[in-house]
Amino acid sequence: MLDGRRILLVISGGIAAYKSLELIRRLRESGADVRCLLTRNAENFVTPLSVQTLSGNRVHADTFSLTDEHEIGHITLARDCDMVVVAPCTANLLAKMATGLADDLASTALLVTDKPILVAPAMNFRMWGHPATQANLATVKARGAAVIGPNAGPLAEGESGVGRMAEPAEIAAAIEGRLAAGPLKGLRALVTSGPTYEAIDPVRFIGNRSSGKQGHALAAALARLGAEVTLISGPVALADPAGVTTVHVETAREMLGAALARLPVDVAVCAAAVADWTVSNASKEKRKKQPGGPPPVIELAPNPDILATLSERGSARPQLVVGFAAETETVVEHAKAKLARKGCDWIVANDVSPAVGTFGGDFNAVHLISQAGVEDWPRCSKADVAERLAWRIADALTGGHP
Ligand SMILES: Cc1cc2nc3c(=O)[nH]c(=O)nc-3n(C[C@H](O)[C@H](O)[C@H](O)COP(=O)(O)O)c2cc1C
Repeated sequence: MLDGRRILLVISGGIAAYKSLELIRRLRESGADVRCLLTRNAENFVTPLSVQTLSGNRVHADTFSLTDEHEIGHITLARDCDMVVVAPCTANLLAKMATGLADDLASTALLVTDKPILVAPAMNFRMWGHPATQANLATVKARGAAVIGPNAGPLAEGESGVGRMAEPAEIAAAIEGRLAAGPLKGLRALVTSGPTYEAIDPVRFIGNRSSGKQGHALAAALARLGAEVTLISGPVALADPAGVTTVHVETAREMLGAALARLPVDVAVCAAAVADWTVSNASKEKRKKQPGGPPPVIELAPNPDILATLSERGSARPQLVVGFAAETETVVEHAKAKLARKGCDWIVANDVSPAVGTFGGDFNAVHLISQAGVEDWPRCSKADVAERLAWRIADALTGGHP
């Protein structure tokens, strides 16, 4: 049920717009508050009066109006909701979304919203199969929108093929799956975050510059989607995220032990920057500077590989194992090699060169690498990367619409 959930439904100018009336009815029956925004061309297919009557809310037409803007500004309209649904989405509107055009109220709302977007494309099968449309689709997906349909079957013009808008019942179910109880309800997630410290002696250690911001944001995002989340955190200056069980560790070995103790889980995300080596000749007492003597020799031994270990746990292997790759050059190539080497399912690669400011900063530009290929995500806040990744994980685990 969608009790009280607020949906902004964008209806664009395709023949399937008549089905959006049925969608409105279903969403309202499910308890949702549905606000509708029609493109100018959509008004050729459905009347604002029908949409207004069925939704029970004033319709926002695709002209920038002084009254509308005074009563509810276009930014509020796009953000004061739980989800934006575009049904039907024309080839034209998909192209605008992909290129970031904002030349009417619908495209502006889609550019300015910070809420999840679900797109239900509907068009002639040749339009759908056109490389331009497919490239636009890939871009819109890579930026985090979920896509449902189109389905195969008879099309309005008497032709047949892939292009029919998903049925209103399917779209309503996809919305409910995403909004109702949280798509990850009943699933267990494990996230590692932050650096590890490897002691040289009781006061000194080998560490790294990881702040834990990305891993902590991801743990919080997975919890918001309903997952039971354990966050295994190295030493960071961050508060424990709400709704998450946080286990504090210091070394790579402690992190591995804590991770194995939480198995089985449905998804494991290794976002921690784990030290590759530990100090094999760590001293129990503080090492003293010997006047005139040589500096101490620090001997290193390899640490266990947490990502590889979780990826090969046989029957206890999480359904989805995601690693992070922090690189300073040839980021994607190194990450692809890491994916193959570690046996995980996805790698989220980011550039941590000092000039980029990823370590410790609030922004990240990542590439999502899987067997399906490489997606280049645009630079955005770590919170947005976390939100997007959490939804992708939800889609992968629940068979949703990636
Ligand atoms: C009768 C008719 C049916 C159309 N059906 C579709 C359709 O199903 N999908 C689509 O992408 N475009 C369709 N179009 C073309 C769009 O209406 C056109 O691209 C328009 O610019 C879309 O505007 P909008 O995206 O701002 O709503 C149709 C046009 C006509 C005249």
